[in-house]
Amino acid sequence: MTDPRILEEARQAAQNAYVPYSHFPVAAILELADGTLLSGCNVENASYGLCMCAERNVLSMSVACGVPREDITSLTVYAPTDTLTTPCGACRQVMTELLEPETPVIVTNGRLEKRYTVRELLPDAFEIE
Ligand code: THU
Repeated sequence: MTDPRILEEARQAAQNAYVPYSHFPVAAILELADGTLLSGCNVENASYGLCMCAERNVLSMSVACGVPREDITSLTVYAPTDTLTTPCGACRQVMTELLEPETPVIVTNGRLEKRYTVRELLPDAFEIE
């Protein structure tokens, strides 16, 4: 099952989600090789197209913090839904660019969990040579 420390962090981050329109909180947690956790949540906007997913928020934060992608050991995506919420297509494309292909992506609702790699979530992804 999901690492309890990461799950706790995810539950906290989901509480910070700014979701007045969808009421659909999501948290995304990056674990680094030294045990550091970086947390993100989705942030919505009245101009709906500007809504930003939890995954892309935390991945942008890792860039801003200067974290080398090799130091990211997992990405956990948490949503308190009955069935598992898997990352949207846009987030899969950004994961492909900012994570290693074999980095584990753990999807959880706190009870159920499924594990993927970045490559499994978006095979044959678009990349510029
Ligand atoms: N959302 C995420 O945060 N991650 C995903 O992978 C899918 C969708 C958010 C965006 C929006 O704030 C809400 O969930 C409903 O789509």
